[in-house]
Amino acid sequence: MNIEKYKEVINANIELYTKSSHEYEKLEPQYRPENLKRVKALLKKEIDAVGVKKVLDLGCGTGFMINLMKEFVDEITGVDVTQVMLDRVDKSGHAKIELINHDTGSYPVQEGKYDMATAHSFLHHLYDIKPTIETAAKALRKGGIFVNELDPNYYFWEAVNKLERNGNYSPLVKREVEEVNHKDEDIEKTFGVNKEIYNTAEYGKNIKGGFREEELTETLLEAGFSKVDIKYHWFLGETLVVNNPNFDKDSNLVTAKFFNEVLHNSMPLARHLYKYVGFVATK
Ligand SMILES: C[S@@+](CC[C@H](N)C(=O)[O-])C[C@H]1O[C@@H](n2cnc3c(N)ncnc32)[C@H](O)[C@@H]1O
Repeated sequence: MNIEKYKEVINANIELYTKSSHEYEKLEPQYRPENLKRVKALLKKEIDAVGVKKVLDLGCGTGFMINLMKEFVDEITGVDVTQVMLDRVDKSGHAKIELINHDTGSYPVQEGKYDMATAHSFLHHLYDIKPTIETAAKALRKGGIFVNELDPNYYFWEAVNKLERNGNYSPLVKREVEEVNHKDEDIEKTFGVNKEIYNTAEYGKNIKGGFREEELTETLLEAGFSKVDIKYHWFLGETLVVNNPNFDKDSNLVTAKFFNEVLHNSMPLARHLYKYVGFVATK
């Protein structure tokens, strides 16, 4: 592995999040109520199924996952390299929450201590995911699970990358072209983080072009996980379905769930329609 590059990506992340932490929760679409509900339900299901008491949250940031699961567990360790992100984590509630400023790939985790490891919108911020996946594998007891959500799906990025910025597309597609290929301009304007730093910080997305499910599965199995379930989320146009003004929100959510089922039954043909990929891996 190129150690210099590994460190450069960490430093780019520290710069990006030190400059943008105050706006983070306002800007990220993951904070939409329907997404909070979806991720909380997923976590609760896994916590109940595995009997989770202790969790390691990798790249915890300002506590997105911590907030969604702390009422269900006894202890959470959050690890992140950006101190100002950690400073924003809400530690209230009954669970013991410990926050550690450290790179997840080199974090000397206690072997077998945890029932669950989590990562949300995080793995694509690494130059190489292997050391962090190994941290998760080492941290878990046998039968423990690693729940990962919201990393860019290579097949979606690949499809969008073929489109032109000024192409004659619907507003929905145009928006994705901007988001996928030109977000660095926006970040530079808003936070004064230069494009190169931003793209380096988002290495797995903006340099590597996202994750293939095959690559994730292979890396997880090599690190010692015995079973990997790949999950795709956020299909193209899901926001339009969920916010359709002609119907109430609950009906829209049922429609979105149905679309999701149809698309999941159309795999692998439909996978390039999903923006994000995640997994639940069992040790
Ligand atoms: C997009 S944020 C995600 C934060 C949180 N998980 C969420 O979903 O809101 C990415 C986080 O990864 C952290 N990060 C980047 N590289 C890291 C590394 N090597 N080790 C630990 N944390 C890292 C950043 O500081 C940032 O807080």
